[in-house]
Amino acid sequence: MLLSKRAEMFLPEQWPAYFGKAEGCRVWDLDGIEYVDMSIMGIGTNTLGYGHKEVDEAVLRTIRNGNMSTLNCPEEVYLAERLIELHPWAQMVRFARSGGEANAIAIRIARAASGRDKVAICGYHGWHDWYLSANLADDNGLDGHLLPGLEPKGVPRNLKGTVFPFNYNCLDELEALIQTHAIGVIKMEVSRNDGPAPGFLERVRELATQHGIVLIFDECTSGFRETFGGLHKKYGVEPDMAMFGKAMGNGYAITATIGRREVMEAAQSTFISSTFWTERIGPTAALKTLEVMEREKSWEQITQTGLEIRQRWQQLGQKYGIRLSHWGLPALTGFTIQSENALAYKTLITQEMLGKGFLAANSVYVCTEHTPLILEAYFEALDPVFQLIAECEDGRDVFALLKGPVCHAGFKRLN
Ligand SMILES: Cc1ncc(COP(=O)(O)O)c(C=O)c1O
Repeated sequence: MLLSKRAEMFLPEQWPAYFGKAEGCRVWDLDGIEYVDMSIMGIGTNTLGYGHKEVDEAVLRTIRNGNMSTLNCPEEVYLAERLIELHPWAQMVRFARSGGEANAIAIRIARAASGRDKVAICGYHGWHDWYLSANLADDNGLDGHLLPGLEPKGVPRNLKGTVFPFNYNCLDELEALIQTHAIGVIKMEVSRNDGPAPGFLERVRELATQHGIVLIFDECTSGFRETFGGLHKKYGVEPDMAMFGKAMGNGYAITATIGRREVMEAAQSTFISSTFWTERIGPTAALKTLEVMEREKSWEQITQTGLEIRQRWQQLGQKYGIRLSHWGLPALTGFTIQSENALAYKTLITQEMLGKGFLAANSVYVCTEHTPLILEAYFEALDPVFQLIAECEDGRDVFALLKGPVCHAGFKRLN
């Protein structure tokens, strides 16, 4: 169902895979075994922890009052107003229930608004045809190499030549695309694994404005992790459209596409519509989540915790002479061990930590339930695993320590 939740991505043949219960930052598998989640926290959906009481209570009230009807729910209006308040450059909003949908909505509107089909992208933007068509790279094989790891079979070949990837912080690549093709839309993540080089985002904005291109920031993952809203608020660069998802409903399905009126009005000249985009649980959960986030300043908490985790990984690395590189926003922090056995070490970490009651690999999607006590227990458990890795770097066979196959690598990102 979701690539990132496949057992093979963590610990082939040994990962618990299915859960019976989740609360705070704890997960219970189907045998009732309890784990502390120091990994992807529902792939970034729950920055306030699993099963947040206030959010769940608001949802339960909505269920008791009726989740669906012939009439519209007012919560979608309240939520639209809230998102616009947080992003004054935008005046209009559309809602969906997944990030891929919000991205497809944005692309349709932006193409309609610019009157041009061609799109320059940087980042991951979902599973839809428009995006995967970037991998229809040559005439002979369907498998291109622009986004290695994502197979485009089933995507109509007619879409070839409509979407062009560029690498993050590579302005020359974007400029070349704009010069060679009639690019009508630039869609990118504001920042993912690396931060923007000085002037990068500003120049992207300038290029878009100069060439009448609709600039879209995909904030599905970055939103509400470093600011109260989009990450672009931190850098002071405003797009023409932006999408939010993941954390916005703290585990409940709700995503949004927001934009400037002159761009969003183009939605009137096309057809974008879906029954369950009007159900009431999504906007109810998002409204309560935003209220709790604002009160707790959750984006500051998770950023601080992420920075601490990063620093303590580094200290462990130094203690055992292991070289680490870091990546990600602080609240989505990760490390890679600089070794040809990096993937085997990642698997070893997951295997050993699972035995000690942690879901853990080499990245942590931080939530407010990752308290100092939790961090203490996590690092106490991780220390001897780093010692093992150091022994392997000195000649011990890491594969002899593994009880199953090495985990799979994810697809290679452009950012
Ligand atoms: C930046 C970004 N855009 C879009 C998506 C797709 O969202 P979803 O998986 O909800 O369809 C993701 C998911 O990881 C994402 O990180």
